[in-house]
Amino acid sequence: MIRVGLVGVGHWGPNVVRSFESGGRAEVKWICDLDDAALARMAGRHSGKTTKDFSDLLGDSDIDAIAIATPVPTHFKLATAALEAGKHVLCEKPLTWTADECRQLIATAEKHDRRLMVGHVFEYNASIRALKDLIDSGELGEIQYMSFARTNLGPVRTDVNALWDLASHDISIMNYFLGASPLDVTARGHAWLNEGIEDAVFATFRFATGALAHVEVSWLNPRKVRLITVVGDKKMAVWDDLALQHPIQVFDRHVELPEVTGTFLEHKTAVVDGGVFLPSVRLNQPLAAECDHFLDCVENGTRPQTDGENGLRVVLALEAATKSMAEGSIVTPIPDA
Ligand SMILES: NC(=O)c1ccc[n+]([C@@H]2O[C@H](COP(=O)([O-])OP(=O)(O)OC[C@H]3O[C@@H](n4cnc5c(N)ncnc54)[C@H](O)[C@@H]3O)[C@@H](O)[C@H]2O)c1
Repeated sequence: MIRVGLVGVGHWGPNVVRSFESGGRAEVKWICDLDDAALARMAGRHSGKTTKDFSDLLGDSDIDAIAIATPVPTHFKLATAALEAGKHVLCEKPLTWTADECRQLIATAEKHDRRLMVGHVFEYNASIRALKDLIDSGELGEIQYMSFARTNLGPVRTDVNALWDLASHDISIMNYFLGASPLDVTARGHAWLNEGIEDAVFATFRFATGALAHVEVSWLNPRKVRLITVVGDKKMAVWDDLALQHPIQVFDRHVELPEVTGTFLEHKTAVVDGGVFLPSVRLNQPLAAECDHFLDCVENGTRPQTDGENGLRVVLALEAATKSMAEGSIVTPIPDA
């Protein structure tokens, strides 16, 4: 049994507690939050102790790992203290507020030989994994572009903007799909509700292959949408997280350009339509799968799929998009990790 301490039981933390405990491999021994009301809400929902003092978790030699589900600006300090106390760390996304902090965390984890994992939960989602398999199999052909839409009316955050809150998921997914990080980004956003905190952001990333990935994120939209379109030169796929029966549709459709013969320019295109098929996907509980993977890594000393470097690549892209937004949407390079 792996003993875990969890810090932050606002909206998301209780899901992490439940996911750890449901697998039967971990015991959440401590729950920490600065807010009495948040701790009171957990009363009776788990068997461990509660505290407002994070050092209770650090000082308990029984605790193997600490999970962090607090707002992003607090991640670096809490994760550093946990690693230095010899605990493995599962930290919510985005890993930290700056790439420099990510690099420091990676070095601290290495120094203390502890696992550092970021909760990029979609990389543990069975239907996202199935779409990744389709891309890797070459079924879609060469990927030309992808578009991501992640919108809803709320929840409105005040600690981070829609880019850092929502697009962190999409950047992690696009990097996972293509097995690479984008080269550059151009982004535009606007803050209507709270000054300086963009409610909607539109960002376009470019990869070395020439593939583009456009991301629309907003918490100021009448519809909840979780949609990804992947366009390949052979086939196209659409992933809809809200279509529970068949989250993936594969369209056997592409466009052919007829050869130009003689002097007559025949620029009519031909749409080739082989129909639509719906791969069957055995759905999972992505957060439970993420927690399970973390426990495997702690138990076996293996490197998490979403390790510190994976978190760093997402933060580098977020930083570049932030710079682009601040500087009139200029094309902004994304440094290598
Ligand atoms: N993977 C996902 O799909 C997903 C979804 C939602 C949130 N998140 C992530 O989870 C994290 C928390 O988000 P949330 O929506 O639950 O936020 P929240 O504001 O609802 O809750 C955060 C909690 O942390 C507590 N807290 C803050 N600073 C603390 C500190 N120093 N020590 C102890 N407790 C502290 C607060 O009192 C609060 O109860 C963020 O990193 C967010 O990006 C991930």
